[in-house]
Amino acid sequence: MLLQINVILMVILTTTKAASQVAQSLPGCPDNCENITIPYPFGIGKECSLSEAYEVNCTTLTVAYANFKLFNISLDDGLMHGLLPMAYHCYNSTGRVSWSQPKIRLSRFRISSKLNLLTTVGCSSRANLMDMDGKRDITGCKSRSSCKSLANGTCSGQGCMQIPIPYLAQEFRIQAQRATRKVGNWSFNNCTYGFLAYKDQYIFQETDLDNMKNRSFLVALEWSVGNTSCKEAKKNKTSYICKENSVCVDFNSDFDRDPGYKCRCAQGFKGNPYLTDGCQDINECEETQTFCIHGCVNTIGGFTCQCPIGMSGDGSLHGSGCYRSGAAKSLRNFLYIGQYTLIFQKTLPCVVVIYSFVFSIM
Ligand SMILES: *[C@@H]1O[C@H](CO)[C@@H](O)[C@H](O)[C@H]1NC(C)=O
Ligand SMILES: *[C@@H]1O[C@H](CO)[C@@H](O)[C@H](O)[C@H]1NC(C)=O
Ligand SMILES: *[C@@H]1O[C@H](CO)[C@@H](O)[C@H](O)[C@H]1NC(C)=O
Ligand SMILES: *[C@@H]1O[C@H](CO)[C@@H](O)[C@H](O)[C@H]1NC(C)=O
Ligand SMILES: *[C@@H]1O[C@H](CO)[C@@H](O)[C@H](O)[C@H]1NC(C)=O
Ligand SMILES: *[C@@H]1O[C@H](CO)[C@@H](O)[C@H](O)[C@H]1NC(C)=O
Ligand SMILES: *[C@@H]1O[C@H](CO)[C@@H](O)[C@H](O)[C@H]1NC(C)=O
Ligand SMILES: *[C@@H]1O[C@H](CO)[C@@H](O)[C@H](O)[C@H]1NC(C)=O
Ligand SMILES: *[C@@H]1O[C@H](CO)[C@@H](O)[C@H](O)[C@H]1NC(C)=O
Ligand SMILES: *[C@@H]1O[C@H](CO)[C@@H](O)[C@H](O)[C@H]1NC(C)=O
Repeated sequence: MLLQINVILMVILTTTKAASQVAQSLPGCPDNCENITIPYPFGIGKECSLSEAYEVNCTTLTVAYANFKLFNISLDDGLMHGLLPMAYHCYNSTGRVSWSQPKIRLSRFRISSKLNLLTTVGCSSRANLMDMDGKRDITGCKSRSSCKSLANGTCSGQGCMQIPIPYLAQEFRIQAQRATRKVGNWSFNNCTYGFLAYKDQYIFQETDLDNMKNRSFLVALEWSVGNTSCKEAKKNKTSYICKENSVCVDFNSDFDRDPGYKCRCAQGFKGNPYLTDGCQDINECEETQTFCIHGCVNTIGGFTCQCPIGMSGDGSLHGSGCYRSGAAKSLRNFLYIGQYTLIFQKTLPCVVVIYSFVFSIM
C-alpha cells in the first residue's frame, strides 16, 4: 500500500512543470538577431546593452568596434563564437601574386588560446600573426607545412598544419606565405592560406590546396565585464555588475592589466546573472536525476529528499536512503513530517501532493 502510493507520488513529481521562461535581455529589449540569442550585457542599441562595448548591430552582426562576424553568445562559459576571414597568397597563371591579410580588431574581446588553432593550408606554406602594421610577428611560432605525403582529414604538416596560439593582442593581422621564396606554379598548389579556427572545425581535404574558397572560420572568443578583479569590483556595490544569487569569476588572464570578470548563477540557480532577478531557482524536483528514492522537496538553491512516514534516513539513493526505525513510528515524528510539508504547501504544487499523501495514509 505504502509503496504503491509512493510510486504514484514520484510520477506526479517528475511530470509537474513550472515552465517559467527566464528573460535574457533587459525588459522591453529585443533578445535576438534572428536566430542568434543576444543575452544582456550584450544588447541591440544603447539602452539595451551594458555599455557601448556590448552593442550588437543586427545588420552587420558585429559587436561594438570589433570586426569579427558574430555567430553566437554563451552566458554559461563566458564565450562567444565569431567568424574571421582567412589570409591568402595566390599566384595566377601569369605568375602574378594576389593576396589578402585580414586585419582583425577584437575590441575588448579575446581569441581563446585554448580553443583555437592557427592553421595553414598549402605546400611549404606558413601562416603567422603580425601586428596591425605587418612589421612585427606576434606569434611565438609559425604554422608551417610541406606536401610530401598528403592525406585527407589530418592537419599535421602535410598540406596542412595547425599549432596552438599564444595569448593574443586585441588587434592583429593574419598572414599567409610561401615558406620557400620559390614562386609557386599554376598547375599545382597556386595558393597558400592562413586562418584561425576553432579546434576540430577544419578538416583538411587534398582538393583544398587548389580551390579553397575565400572562406570564413569560426573562432571562440572570451568575454568579460568590468575592468577589475572580482575582489576589487565587489568593493563598489553601485558598479558591481553581478546580480543576486550569482557568483563572480575572475577572468583568467596573466597578460591583461585590467581583465575584468564574469558572473555566473550560483549553484541551484539558472538564468542570466547580469539581470535583476535573472538567476532563478532551479526546481531540482522536476529534473530527473535528483536521486531521491521517495519524495523530493524543492528549496531555494537546492532540494531535500523525503522518507515515508515510519522511515528514517536522508532519502537519497547515494546516501543512507530510507530505512525502518522504531523511533520513526512515534507520533512526534509524524507531526514533524506533516509540519515540514505544510511550510511549503503554498509555494509548490509537488509538496501539496506530499501533504495530501500524508493525510491519506492516516
Ligand atoms: C543562423 O542562420 C544562418 C542562416 O540561416 C546560419 O548560417 C547560421 O549558422 C545560423 N546561426 C546559428 C547560431 O544557428
Ligand atoms: C549597423 O551597421 C550599419 C553598417 O555599418 C549601419 O548603417 C547601421 O546604422 C548600424 N545599425 C545600428 C543600429 O547601429
Ligand atoms: C556556439 O557555436 C559553437 C560552435 O558551433 C557551439 O559549440 C556552441 O555550443 C554554441 N553556443 C551556443 C550558446 O549556442
Ligand atoms: C589555382 O588553380 C586552380 C586550378 O588548379 C584554379 O581553379 C584556381 O582558380 C587558381 N586560383 C587562383 C587564385 O588563381
Ligand atoms: C594575373 O594577375 C595580374 C595582376 O593581378 C593581372 O593583371 C592578370 O590579368 C592576371 N592574369 C590572369 C590570367 O588572370
Ligand atoms: C582526398 O579526397 C579527395 C576528394 O575529396 C579525393 O579525390 C582524393 O583522392 C583523396 N586523397 C587521398 C590521399 O585520400
Ligand atoms: C608544379 O609543381 C609540381 C609539384 O611541385 C611539379 O610536379 C610540377 O612539375 C610543376 N610544374 C611546373 C610547370 O613547374
Ligand atoms: C576574401 O574575403 C575578404 C574578407 O572577407 C575580402 O576582403 C576579399 O576581397 C575576398 N577576396 C576574394 C578574392 O574574394
Ligand atoms: C575601467 O576603470 C576605469 C578606472 O580605472 C573607469 O574609469 C572605467 O569606467 C572602467 N571601465 C569599465 C568598462 O568599467
Ligand atoms: C562606485 O561606482 C559608481 C558608478 O560607477 C561611481 O559613480 C562611484 O564613484 C563609485 N564609488 C567609489 C567609492 O569608487
